[in-house]
Amino acid sequence: MRAEEISAWVNEAKEACASAKDLDSLKSVRTAHVGDKAPISLASRALGSMSAEDKVVFGKLIGEAKASISEFIMGATKKLEAQRDQKILLEEVVDVTLPLNRRHRGGLHPITIIKNEISDFFIEQGFAVEEGPELESGWLNFDALNIPADHPARTMQDTFFIEPVESGMVLRTHTSPVQVRTMLTQEPPIYVVCPGRTFRADELDATHSPVFHQVEGLVIDKGITMAHLKGVLDNFARHMFGPNVTTRLRPSFFPFTEPSAEVDVFFNNRWIEWGGCGMVNPKVLATCGINSEIYSGFAFGMGLERTLMVRHSITDMHDIVEGDIRFTRQFGVGL
Ligand code: PHE
Repeated sequence: MRAEEISAWVNEAKEACASAKDLDSLKSVRTAHVGDKAPISLASRALGSMSAEDKVVFGKLIGEAKASISEFIMGATKKLEAQRDQKILLEEVVDVTLPLNRRHRGGLHPITIIKNEISDFFIEQGFAVEEGPELESGWLNFDALNIPADHPARTMQDTFFIEPVESGMVLRTHTSPVQVRTMLTQEPPIYVVCPGRTFRADELDATHSPVFHQVEGLVIDKGITMAHLKGVLDNFARHMFGPNVTTRLRPSFFPFTEPSAEVDVFFNNRWIEWGGCGMVNPKVLATCGINSEIYSGFAFGMGLERTLMVRHSITDMHDIVEGDIRFTRQFGVGL
């Protein structure tokens, strides 16, 4: 082994590095000049069989040569990587000013958003969500709720009857039949909310729609009083309208609650009628097989359109019904 040989290997490696065009060819350079079979590696291995003095001299030379070669390779790697990155930047350039084909993602209707919001609020407090059919038996929609046959709500003006009329089926006029369904199939304690679509033979105008939505709440347990009802309504109102709103109950009448009340909320400096409520009439409990000596309960029902209209100062029901996305988008997509 001669010192000139070693410096020749270093020079060869230097030239090879300088002439490598890309990272791939640099790889072969690396194999050829520092790989297992590279002359410098073979020389390094040969040190073992040298005399002690030669080992000292050549060990130093080989060590220095190796360091120089790896420096050349490192320098070339840096240079070639930078070149590659520059090339990618140019080749994969994105023209951010190009017009793109925008597709709308779609979204939930504000009624669905508020329905989910209400359900979530009650679920957090341990209520279950129940749903019932929109096409309902007259018995569940009326009779079981103590609404007698001659009640005005049953006349042709209010109720959509389904042919054949003898079927006794109606489009439910409120969500209260879901109360009955729940009490008929579940044992107290019962804590449910029942959001859903309801129907009344009204003309579509600024404040009415023949198809609308309600949410019903029902609690049946031991020792339930109107104070519980008031507490739940207050919390519910604050959740819907803001932390500072208050509610008041005004005496009213519903056949299925006794006593009954209208719930008003004080919002934007005025009292607004929000919904109906009361203590479940013992007659209704009896119809549903619940012993009113042991259990009592309350129920309430609100219109979702009305809640949305009050909360967002929407003055025309058409906006909610028509589904124009310029209106609905303002509520966010809610997905
Ligand atoms: N079902 C009643 C309505 O549609 C509202 C209501 C529900 C009243 C529950 C009292 C208790 O007008």
